[in-house]
Order: sequence, then structure tokens, then C-alpha cells
Amino acid sequence: MKSYNGMVLVAGATGRTGAWVVKRLECHDIDYHLFVRSGKKALELFGPEVIDKLTIGSVEHQEEIRAAIGHADAVICAVGGNVTDPEAPPPAAIDRDGITRLATIAKEGGVKHFILISSLSVTKPDHPLNKYGKVLTMKLEGEDEVRKLFSEPGYSYTILRPGGLVDGQPLMHALRIDTGDRMTTGVIDRSDVAEMAVLSLFAPEAHNLTFELVRSEEAPQSSLIHCFAHIV
Ligand SMILES: NC(=O)c1ccc[n+]([C@@H]2O[C@H](COP(=O)([O-])OP(=O)(O)OC[C@H]3O[C@@H](n4cnc5c(N)ncnc54)[C@H](OP(=O)(O)O)[C@@H]3O)[C@@H](O)[C@H]2O)c1
Repeated sequence: MKSYNGMVLVAGATGRTGAWVVKRLECHDIDYHLFVRSGKKALELFGPEVIDKLTIGSVEHQEEIRAAIGHADAVICAVGGNVTDPEAPPPAAIDRDGITRLATIAKEGGVKHFILISSLSVTKPDHPLNKYGKVLTMKLEGEDEVRKLFSEPGYSYTILRPGGLVDGQPLMHALRIDTGDRMTTGVIDRSDVAEMAVLSLFAPEAHNLTFELVRSEEAPQSSLIHCFAHIV
């Protein structure tokens, strides 16, 4: 029996965390559709078998989002603007307005559960990262819209706030989880963030939850599902 029977739209699937989300959905045998800016990049990353699972577009464009949402019961969003590229749209356009647009159209389109990968320290306006277009504050405002839209009865959200992202294999570390944005430092593997996002689809404790996550000691894990039980 599948742990989640719906169709999951992965937004930002060609990003470094998004690609892990796709791999972890495959591990859990969960159906997915991908919302990506570049079909070429998606085919290079995931192979020709995803050709029928792609919708090309940007979170800046309503109609492109609508086309993608038509396929979804849940969304996992790993979209993030590129703050180091002066040519890229600012965080206000992607991490706030883009996420708000995606969540609004998702709800209109019948999506029941919205899972957002955000960041540690979004509630800290004086954080040094905010010198880049107030990226953390923009992410918090995006989060706020997701919480507002998906906390109504019949809907649910999960917001993951990872520490600094690194690129190791999944399930190789214990995780440290907290709420209230109290952790100030820490790193975590993108693969484990992806796994926790996928588990959030079907772990009841993850519903209507915002939590921070960083890695703790190196220790192979058979599953990360137990992490939700420790969140207060
Ligand atoms: N870096 C860190 O240490 C860190 C720490 C905490 C949280 N975060 C956050 O965690 C999330 C995932 O991080 P990551 O390192 O995996 O990011 P990443 O590799 O830069 O991936 C970001 C994804 O967002 C997509 N994207 C950007 N603009 C878009 C738009 N207008 N419409 C649709 N998709 C768009 C990108 O598309 P393309 O593939 O086409 O470029 C890419 O797939 C981000 O929100 C990031 O800010 C990062």
C-alpha cells in the first residue's frame, strides 16, 4: 500500500533540493508532476521518462501555474530566487509574491496540502542574509500566506525551515528539530530536507506545522518519520 495516494506537484524540481524531492518521492512510490522553468534541465536530471510529467513555467506567471496545478492534490515547493544573480528577479518577486501566487492558485485548484521549503531565521529581520533584498523577510511573508490559505478546515500546510544546505546522501544523520525559530546555526543535507518534506505528506503530526531542522551527529537512520514525534 502506498503511504500517500495523491498526485504531488513538485515546484522547483530542477533545483538542488527539488531534485532530491523527486528522488525521495520515487523511493516512497508516490506519484508526481513537475513544475520547472526548463524542460531540458528536467530531462537531463531525471531522464526521458519524465517527459509526460512536466509543466514548464515560472511562479511569476498565473497561467503557467494553473496549468501545473491541474495535476495536483498536494504541492511540495522547493523554489527559491537566486539572490547572488543581479539579473534574477528579487526575493520579493519569487520568495514572497511567487510563493503567494503558487499557493493561492493551488488552493483554488483543489490542492489540499501545501509543503513549503523555507529557511531558518526568517523571523530575524536583522540577519545578515537580509541585505540581499530582504530575502528572509520575503520568505516569511510567503510563509504567512501559505499558513493563512492552508490553515482553513479541509486544508493543511507544512513549512520546513532548514539551516544551511549541504549535499550529502539522505538518512546519514540524526536531525535536530525545533519550532519558534530559536536555532541560530546549523547545516542539513538537502536530501534529508527532501525526505522530511515527502514524509510531511502523510505524517499527521506534520500537518499545520512550521518547524526548523538541522543535522545532528552522523548516525545512519532507517527512517526520519520519528522526528515528527519530537516536535513540540
Ligand atoms: N542555500 C542554503 O543554504 C539555504 C538555506 C536554507 C534555505 N534555503 C532555501 O531552500 C530552498 C531550496 O534551496 P536550493 O539550494 O535547493 O535552491 P536551488 O538549487 O537554487 O533551487 C531553486 C529552485 O527554484 C527554481 N526557481 C527560481 N526561480 C523560479 C521561478 N521564477 N519560477 C519557478 N521556479 C523558480 C529554480 O529553477 P531552475 O532550476 O530553473 O534554476 C530551482 O529549481 C530555497 O528556497 C532556498 O532559498 C537555502
